[in-house]
Amino acid sequence: MVDNQVGLPVAVAPHADPILIAENVTAGYGGPPVISDVNLRAARGEITAILGPNGAGKSTLLKVIAGVIRPTQGTISLRGEDLSMLQPQELVRTGLSYIPQVANVFPSLTVYENLEMGGYVLRTGVKERAERLCEMFPSLKACLRRPARTLSGGERRMLAIARGLMVDPSVLLLDEPTAGLAPRFVQSVWEHLIAVKDQGVAVVIVEQNTRQTLTYATWAYVMAFGRNHIEGNGGDLLNDAALVDAYIGKG
Ligand SMILES: Nc1ncnc2c1ncn2[C@@H]1O[C@H](COP(=O)(O)OP(=O)(O)OP(=O)(O)O)[C@@H](O)[C@H]1O
Ligand SMILES: [Mg+2]
Repeated sequence: MVDNQVGLPVAVAPHADPILIAENVTAGYGGPPVISDVNLRAARGEITAILGPNGAGKSTLLKVIAGVIRPTQGTISLRGEDLSMLQPQELVRTGLSYIPQVANVFPSLTVYENLEMGGYVLRTGVKERAERLCEMFPSLKACLRRPARTLSGGERRMLAIARGLMVDPSVLLLDEPTAGLAPRFVQSVWEHLIAVKDQGVAVVIVEQNTRQTLTYATWAYVMAFGRNHIEGNGGDLLNDAALVDAYIGKG
């Protein structure tokens, strides 16, 4: 963006144009709320991270956004449209794709069949879309006919991400996509996520590895006890001594 009056570049504020807005969201599992009054904004072409200690409510926030559980208060909107009454499969059609931490591929189906399943809401173009994703994930191309259970942990994670991309989402929600992976696979997952956000997707990621996530995140939300705790630019938070002391020691 350029300031027309003086001709100098002007920094675009993070989340200046969010596609996804969660506002004052309270939710739980039938008992007392697990998350309360939580806010989050995510823009296309950015990686938005949700960080925080175990049990902080990160996965719960992602589940509410994905329509897996309903908020008891607050709203979730995508391009200004309220999502709260939509079913998860309807949310997929609106451009929201959710990759849970576990059970994110079908082990007995082949890699190609998993991709087909990911594109189940597409009426046409499934084959073409799968072919394009194979260009992006070359390790999958070599094993399209193999059952997913025969893939390595890293390849399975790639398959889960590729499945989530079959619907050409505008928002990709991922719950700990690098958990338990060897360092070279962790790096590869990040490289793919950066490529995905560079294609204009709003990538929203829950992560445990705080330091690495902050190096890639455009904006990060740190949750604690089910609430927003700190938020900021990834680089700024990385330099925040209090945050480093509180959370980065472990990763
Ligand atoms: N299906 C469920 N039913 C009841 N309580 C749940 C359920 N899932 C999570 N909780 C509770 O909600 C709280 C927040 O859990 P959540 O999974 O959102 O945390 P998290 O920040 O993702 O933690 P972690 O880093 O360990 O994945 C925890 O106290 C957890 O026990
Ligand atoms: Mg979790």
